[in-house]
Amino acid sequence: MNILFLGAPGSGKGTQSKKVETEFNIPQISTGDLLRAETSSGSEMGQELKKIMASGRFVSDDIVLELVSKKIKSEECKKGFILDGFPRNLSQASSLDSLLNNIGISLEYVFLIDVPKDLILKRCVGRITCDTCGKIENEYFSNFREGDKCGDGVFVKRADDNEETVTNRLEVYAEQTQPIIDFYIEKGILHRIVGGEDGPARLTSEILSIINS
Ligand code: AP5
Ligand code: MG
Repeated sequence: MNILFLGAPGSGKGTQSKKVETEFNIPQISTGDLLRAETSSGSEMGQELKKIMASGRFVSDDIVLELVSKKIKSEECKKGFILDGFPRNLSQASSLDSLLNNIGISLEYVFLIDVPKDLILKRCVGRITCDTCGKIENEYFSNFREGDKCGDGVFVKRADDNEETVTNRLEVYAEQTQPIIDFYIEKGILHRIVGGEDGPARLTSEILSIINS
């Protein structure tokens, strides 16, 4: 089962990917997480990526395509995968098509998480993520705070979750990512999941019922 989550920054792609990962035991491939791992490696490329991501711009297609392609071809993705944050523009969508064609597989479900813009800022600015297990929480909607323990890890904030960068990320999303919605509508595999004030659980049950039906 090969799944893709599309949606604006802070729409809940990571949150829902982790639920589906647990439910079906297939790995989440988050290009944001893979790139953040690279930035903390201290390499020269990592330093460059850090600057790009802190501004809210996209990293080059070549870099993300290489990361994704290595993962998709790996043993851990034999039973399927959940793409989160890739593709993000038409060129990446077409590269993904070629990659999947070459290995004889295809995407089965594309879930677009559609959340009103006015909810996004609070979600990003309040987001905290465990530096060890990747659990995602929010300071506004839970009792967890930055610096709190999560098992063996600690909740941390992302460098791109400030108001200015989130505003830039939203602009880049509207310009570059929204056009790929039509690309997947035409393929007949896009499901629009409308999110709002209600928490993540309702969305998870809608997603699981589509997959299970
Ligand atoms: P990435 O890490 O993918 O960031 P993003 O796309 O901006 O998405 P987010 O991770 O911010 O949001 P999300 O949808 O996962 O929301 P989450 O579940 O955490 O990419 C970061 C950067 O890397 C990019 O800007 C770019 O520079 C680079 N990059 C990555 N991929 C690339 C690519 N393919 N090409 C080029 N560059 C690339 O939820 C957010 C918050 O809301 C959390 O606090 C959560 O608890 C809360 N929440 C979630 N769902 C709900 C709900 N239903 N109700 C209430 N709260 C909720
Ligand atoms: Mg995410």
